[in-house]
Amino acid sequence: MRQPVSGFSKKSKEQKIEWLLATYFKDADDVKKIIQQYYNSDDALQQLHDDFIENAITNYFLPFGVAPNFLLNGQLYAIPMVTEESSVVAAASNAAKFWLERGGFTSEVISTVKNGQVHLDYYGDANVLTEFFEATKPKLIASLDALQKNMKRRGGGLLDIEFLDASETLEGYFQLHCTFETLDAMGANFINSCLEQIATTFTTEAQNYKAFTQKKPRVVMSILSNYVPECLVRAEVHCKVEDLTQKEVSGEVFAKNFVRAINIAKSETRRAVTHNKGIMNGIDAVVLATGNDFRAVEAGVHAYAAKNGYYGSLTHAQVEDGVFRFWIELPLALGTVGGLTSLHPLAKFALQLLQNPNARELMQLVAAAGLAQNFAAIKSLVTVGIQKGHMKMHLMNILNQLEASSTEKEKALKHFKEISVSHSAVENYIEELRS
Ligand code: MEV
Repeated sequence: MRQPVSGFSKKSKEQKIEWLLATYFKDADDVKKIIQQYYNSDDALQQLHDDFIENAITNYFLPFGVAPNFLLNGQLYAIPMVTEESSVVAAASNAAKFWLERGGFTSEVISTVKNGQVHLDYYGDANVLTEFFEATKPKLIASLDALQKNMKRRGGGLLDIEFLDASETLEGYFQLHCTFETLDAMGANFINSCLEQIATTFTTEAQNYKAFTQKKPRVVMSILSNYVPECLVRAEVHCKVEDLTQKEVSGEVFAKNFVRAINIAKSETRRAVTHNKGIMNGIDAVVLATGNDFRAVEAGVHAYAAKNGYYGSLTHAQVEDGVFRFWIELPLALGTVGGLTSLHPLAKFALQLLQNPNARELMQLVAAAGLAQNFAAIKSLVTVGIQKGHMKMHLMNILNQLEASSTEKEKALKHFKEISVSHSAVENYIEELRS
């Protein structure tokens, strides 16, 4: 029977590993070897990674790839992508090349406002709370002076505090809805610190407010929102329909089928989820490579996809006057300073590769990557199907699973050039080679 461990976080890394091996593994030596294989030989670099989180025992590698030839707003980029999915970088590269020959991507930032809330409980007269808020608002704002001094100097900071009565949705529920401009920072720490200060000032002031008799407002919690529909970016590609003509299909048929596929994703949730997942293949990969918070982006983007009361496509397509237009509009709270962006050497490298963009430029690059990914997926889906390209890229994973030698791999790559790849076909082929 296993026993719980106490004081785990206080143990040294070696002690943690020893405990894990003794508690959960029979083949301790083999496991220890794997854990240690992933250490960085540079002690300082390893320490940096160990310091990112609690209880780090090793590093977890993911491939860092690059999709070149992204023409965005007239500039050529090689976009860094961190992902484990075989076909993602290849698909982005193909889409980038396709649009490079057709005018490239354009994008624009629509808005950059972030937000957070102080959530309140209050069971008294709503008018009294409203009056209290109006009277106290200048003090709430002034209490942020020290916290937002630097941010304000750079042109950002708190934009406004709004009082919301949400008691019809949930009894006794009120809110201080706060909006912020955080410039090149994603801003989570800044926003949360401001919100907690506002909450403290609010509570202190409420204690002394005579008009609250027994029923005083109480702060339940203060936290930023990862739903940022006022931090929006749009990216687009367009060309004449005839310029979409490819080997296997005319431009007209391709555009018609493409728009139809997008409209299906706009009207059917099951398809929309997979459609948007494909978009996030591109978005997350760049967000991760640049040291940004992909969970925050994921949560906010999916909520935005459901903003009309049902979950639909994040991309749109149309043909008008012989022009095919395909675009994405989505909320992205990203940073190019703070967080891991300069701390993780590879995040720093990714940003350098992108020519050190500011947050607005990064939003545009990420949106273009998402649009490219979706274009590649829909292009395959409405023509040759997804598996051809996907399995071709997955072939090496199957060969590695089968522990193929380099000669076997070489032969298999040649063999499957013209033949469709499936797990069993590769397995049979390797078996034949071996017998
Ligand atoms: C696979 O990771 C993503 C796709 O399923 C996206 C889509 O269906 O649009 C290919």
